[in-house]
Amino acid sequence: TTVIYTAFDGTETIVEGAPGVSIMETALRNGVPGIVGECGGSMSCATCHVFVSDETAAFAGEMSELEDEMLDGTAVEREECSRLSCQIKLIAGETYRVTTPSEQV
Ligand code: FES
Repeated sequence: TTVIYTAFDGTETIVEGAPGVSIMETALRNGVPGIVGECGGSMSCATCHVFVSDETAAFAGEMSELEDEMLDGTAVEREECSRLSCQIKLIAGETYRVTTPSEQV
């Protein structure tokens, strides 16, 4: 399962992730910049904010009400394609594309 992280300045980092692990956790394990994940994935920090591609959004799963609320408190203002990357767990065989915002805190 491949995750392609694009930083706000266009720098791409491509990593192989394990199914069942979140996009946030995969970034931290691989030293990918741009994702902080302060709360460890318990949906209380919003420092794992990412913008997902349309293609990725199609298989990334539904957003919960709490995630939706937390996205109102991100450092860089949310957009239509905003998600909390701790809430997207990798599915085997898919390729994920996310862009990280310029700030998380
Ligand atoms: Fe804290 Fe995602 S890691 S909300």
